[in-house]
Amino acid sequence: DKGTYDYYMLKEIDEQPVVIRHLLDKYFDDAGKILLGDQLLADIQAADRLYIVAAGTSYHAGLVGARMLEQWAGLPTEVHVASEFAYDQPLLSQKPFFIFLSQSGETADSREVLQNINRAGFKSLTLTNVSNSTLWREATYALPLMAGPEIAVASTKAYVAQVTLEAILAYALSSRLDLDLEKELSRIAIEIQAIVDDKLTFKRVAEELLVNSQSAFYIGRGVDADVALEAALKLKEISYVQAEGFAAGELKHGTLALIEDGTPVITLLTQPKTAGLVRGNIAETQARGADTFTIATKSLATDGDGYVLPDVDPLLAPLLTVVPTQLLAYYTSLGRGLDVDHPRNLAKSVTVQ
Ligand code: F6R
Repeated sequence: DKGTYDYYMLKEIDEQPVVIRHLLDKYFDDAGKILLGDQLLADIQAADRLYIVAAGTSYHAGLVGARMLEQWAGLPTEVHVASEFAYDQPLLSQKPFFIFLSQSGETADSREVLQNINRAGFKSLTLTNVSNSTLWREATYALPLMAGPEIAVASTKAYVAQVTLEAILAYALSSRLDLDLEKELSRIAIEIQAIVDDKLTFKRVAEELLVNSQSAFYIGRGVDADVALEAALKLKEISYVQAEGFAAGELKHGTLALIEDGTPVITLLTQPKTAGLVRGNIAETQARGADTFTIATKSLATDGDGYVLPDVDPLLAPLLTVVPTQLLAYYTSLGRGLDVDHPRNLAKSVTVQ
């Protein structure tokens, strides 16, 4: 039921703080201990390489999760698009472990891969929003995303749930003592609430920057590049504005040629390591006339930026940065008079290959 909302997508964006709280309730006990199952953690630890397999938005969540598994837990991790992996399987390590990410649990491309790896006798974990779905039933292990039904075709809260659960998993496999993840995620839930309370800011920016544009670019480095891909997909999918997301350092290797007077360039700037370089990239686009809007964390922000987010552990930044990009896509679609929840040519669950 949409309640007072015009579209499910906005309702689902607004539910994101609650989704994080549900995950905290489910996966942390009262003493702060993580509850994921000891056998699952032992099986992952016994692997020599992890393979994340997913499609679309879930693939983008996988890109972020891989960085957490590598940088926090020291586990070599590859991320693959399911439709590619199914027919062009990479050379596997000796002891692979597979992680499937899927909101619906029914994506045919991912199911094809799971069938192949089951035949080969490899172990797997599915993170899905639909308990008892095919990917849930056929994997060795399955964990629920706790996001509640996602009705809008464009995925929002399932992405946040996937990144949150990947963080919990990577943290459980790490020995990080400098981060209290439970506390950090509770704070992030509060900060997401502040962003969604600021909707009108993004409505205004969408109207000024995107509604009448033919194209848009999202740039960033590290996890910000991963979110740039997701931001571009969301905008394309519901507003039909041609959008591209990519690693900011790649601009000068080709895409800069497309920047002209008034081209929208939206930058995500949350990674201290590369902030100076990204500032340089923004300047390169501005010198060609780009209309820039920058979403930056507080300690990296400067006066000209469009939106300032609180500081956060660098690999958790996607949980914050993705929300403004969801709202920009939503208000661009709305401003163009489109049916936000039912973009043309698309289905919620892609059960054909
Ligand atoms: C984008 C979107 C799709 C899905 C993709 C995978 O907003 O919804 O890209 O993310 O079709 O679907 P699941 O996660 O159900 O496997």
